[in-house]
Amino acid sequence: MSFEKKEKPLFISFEGGEGVGKSTQIRLLADRLTQAGYEVYCLREPGGTSVGEQIRSILLDCANANMAPIAELLLYEAARAQLVTEVIKPALAAGKVVLVDRFTDSTLAYQAFARGLDKELVNTSNIIGSCALVPTRTVLLDKDVDEGLKKAIEGGADRMEAEGREFHERVHEGFEYLAHRHDQRIVTVACQERKEDTHELVFAAVADLFNEQAARPYEISSELLQKIKEQK
Ligand code: TMP
Repeated sequence: MSFEKKEKPLFISFEGGEGVGKSTQIRLLADRLTQAGYEVYCLREPGGTSVGEQIRSILLDCANANMAPIAELLLYEAARAQLVTEVIKPALAAGKVVLVDRFTDSTLAYQAFARGLDKELVNTSNIIGSCALVPTRTVLLDKDVDEGLKKAIEGGADRMEAEGREFHERVHEGFEYLAHRHDQRIVTVACQERKEDTHELVFAAVADLFNEQAARPYEISSELLQKIKEQK
């Protein structure tokens, strides 16, 4: 294993409903890429900057149950614009790999499909908020909605998690639609029982973006190998 630093400006987003384990998968991928010599930035939305984290608390605070859908949309976009300008663009310019927990697909799934805002309106807002930045690849983690929600609200539900089951079903359908529509960019990964197994599927979904050394697979069972091969 070489520790020579590798420069590779790559922007990968992780998407999915509540409790699918995005942050765990981002950490596992970041560890593996770091070991292979890449410089990796792990960020989350909304958040990742001082301004963004303050906006996050407003968005997730259950006391703000009466927030207007347009206000909600614009707050997510404001946090995004800050993150893109302050962190993501400079990191990519410096040749880093950027892994982000949610990006514009979440806004379409939550604010358009689930909340009911017009898709074109949300698309236009996404272009403004993202400063027209599009992920190189998006990993969509897929898990049963009830299972994910149950896990997510273990420690108490935030304002978005507290939305009903039907809202989260619509989020799920939204992501499915987006994965179908952008099948060159979005790769769906079915969450497995073991996070290590899910990681192998995640890695298979992005391995072509990295060099051979990072892409060398771990020793994995033939059953899992088959699942990886069947992954679309
Ligand atoms: P997280 O808890 O997964 O970090 O995400 C925060 C919540 O915000 C989650 O319920 C999804 C929601 N969200 C939106 O509704 N729209 C967005 O654009 C983003 C980025 C997140």
